[in-house]
Amino acid sequence: MNSKSTINPNDASDLLIEEELLEMESRYCSWGDTVHYSARPRIFTRAEGSYLFDKEGTPFLDLQMLYSAVNFGYKNKRLNNVMKKQLDTLPQLACQYLHEEKIHLAAKLCRKNELAFEEEGRVHFNVGGSSAVEDSLKLVRNHTGKNLIFAFMGGYHGRTLAVSAITSSYRYRERYGHFGDRAFFIPFPYCFRCPYDKKKDFCNLFCLKQFERLFETEYYSVINKKNNSCEFGAFFIEAVQGTGGYLVPPQEYFAGLKEILERHKILLVDDEIQMGFYRTGKFWAIEHFNVAPDIIVFGKSLTNGLNPLSGVWAKEQLISPHVFPPGSTHATFSSNPLGTTVGLEVLKLIEESNFAKEIPEKGQYFISRLRALQKKYPQIGDVDGLGLALRIEMCQKDGYTPNKELTDSIAEIGLCGNLSAGGKKQGLVLDVGGYYKNVFTLAPSFYVTKKEIDIGVELFEEALIKALKK
Ligand SMILES: Cc1ncc(COP(=O)(O)O)c(C=O)c1O
Repeated sequence: MNSKSTINPNDASDLLIEEELLEMESRYCSWGDTVHYSARPRIFTRAEGSYLFDKEGTPFLDLQMLYSAVNFGYKNKRLNNVMKKQLDTLPQLACQYLHEEKIHLAAKLCRKNELAFEEEGRVHFNVGGSSAVEDSLKLVRNHTGKNLIFAFMGGYHGRTLAVSAITSSYRYRERYGHFGDRAFFIPFPYCFRCPYDKKKDFCNLFCLKQFERLFETEYYSVINKKNNSCEFGAFFIEAVQGTGGYLVPPQEYFAGLKEILERHKILLVDDEIQMGFYRTGKFWAIEHFNVAPDIIVFGKSLTNGLNPLSGVWAKEQLISPHVFPPGSTHATFSSNPLGTTVGLEVLKLIEESNFAKEIPEKGQYFISRLRALQKKYPQIGDVDGLGLALRIEMCQKDGYTPNKELTDSIAEIGLCGNLSAGGKKQGLVLDVGGYYKNVFTLAPSFYVTKKEIDIGVELFEEALIKALKK
C-alpha cells in the first residue's frame, strides 16, 4: 500500500483507470468501514435485477443482494419510481413535522403485527439497523430497569458502540475498552455443529434445557431465587441467524425459549433486520416458530436498500407515549420522506405479491440443486435454508472440518468475473459468513428466475472446481 498517492484526486473519476482508483482508495479511504475481504476489491458501476456489472459490462450474478437489503431486485422500477416522485414533491422534512407516508407505513406495520401476534403496538423509525437496535435497548432498559441482556453466540446485531456489547464477536469490542454490559451469550441451536455434540434427531433440545438450568439456583449467576428477580432484561434473537451462517433452528426451539423467558419476565427482542420482509418466506422469520416477540427490529430491505430507514415495533405497554415520551430518541433523518415512501411501497408490493408461495418454492428448487452438487463434492458439508435464506457450509474432504481457505478461494474466483456459465463470461457475488467463516450465505433477489438459479449453481460449481485445483 502506498502512503503517498501520486494520483490527483481532483481528476474526474471516470477518466481514471481501475489501478489508479484502487491506489487512491488505499490512500484516502478508511478501511474501518469496510471489510476488504479480497486483496483487490472489485469496483462495480451498474446494477440491474439480480446482476451487478463492472466497467467492462461483465455481469456478476449477485447471490447476496447487499446482505439481503435488496430483496426486490436492483433497479426495481416500481420502487425506484416512487422514490423519484418523492424527490420532486417532498424530499426532506424534519421529523418534528409529519408526512402522510410515515403514518401509513407505521400503521401498516402495526396492523400486520396485530394480525400475526394479536398484539397492539407502535412503530418508531431510525436510520440504519444498529441505531434501531440501540433504540430497542432503550425500550428494554426503560421498561425493565435492567441493562443486562442475553444474546446468542454467533448473533450479529450491529457494530455501533452500544450494540457491539450484544453482538457476539469479541473482535468488534477488542479495541474499544471494557464493555460492562456485555451480553451473556448462549449457544444457538446450530445443529450441524451442535455446541453440545448432540445429534439433532435425538437431542430432545438439550441446549434449551441447558439454558433453563441457569435459573435453577442463584449460583448459576442470573437469578435471585429469594425474590425470583432475574438480572437480565431481554433476550435478543435472530430467528434465523444471519451473519452466523443462515442457521435455521429446530421448529420447537423458540416456543420453548419464550416459555422460559416469560416465566422470568425477560423480554424477547426479535432482530429481523436481515431476515424480515419475506427473506425466509414469511413476513417475519419469527412467524415460522409460533412465537410472539415483545419487540421487533427491522431495517435493510424495508426500502429495498434505497434508503437506510430502520425501525422498531414494540408492544403498546413498552412504547406508548406515556412511558416512552417524545424525544426519547432522535435522529435528523429518522423518518425521512424518501425512506418512508419507498417503505410504504415495499409493503404494498408485498401485499400484492404471492411471496408466501413463490419464495419457499424457489428456495426448495435452489436447495435441491445444491444438494445434488453436495453429492458430487464431499467438501460441501451442509446445505440448508428457509425460504430464500440459504446456506452452503464448506468443509474439508471429511465433510465436517471447516474449510475457510476453500471458501475464500471460491468467493475470490467468483469476483474475478472469468467464469463462463452458458458460454458467457460472467462473475458470481457471494458473501461469506458462519462461525468459522466457511459458509456461503445466499440471499438472492425474490425475483430470481429458475434459469438464474441454474446459472448460479453452474457458476458455483465452476468456481469450486477451479478452487479445488489450486
Ligand atoms: C441481524 C442484524 N442486525 C443488525 C444489523 C446491523 O444493521 P446495520 O448494518 O444497518 O447497522 C445487521 C446487519 O447486517 C443484521 O444482519
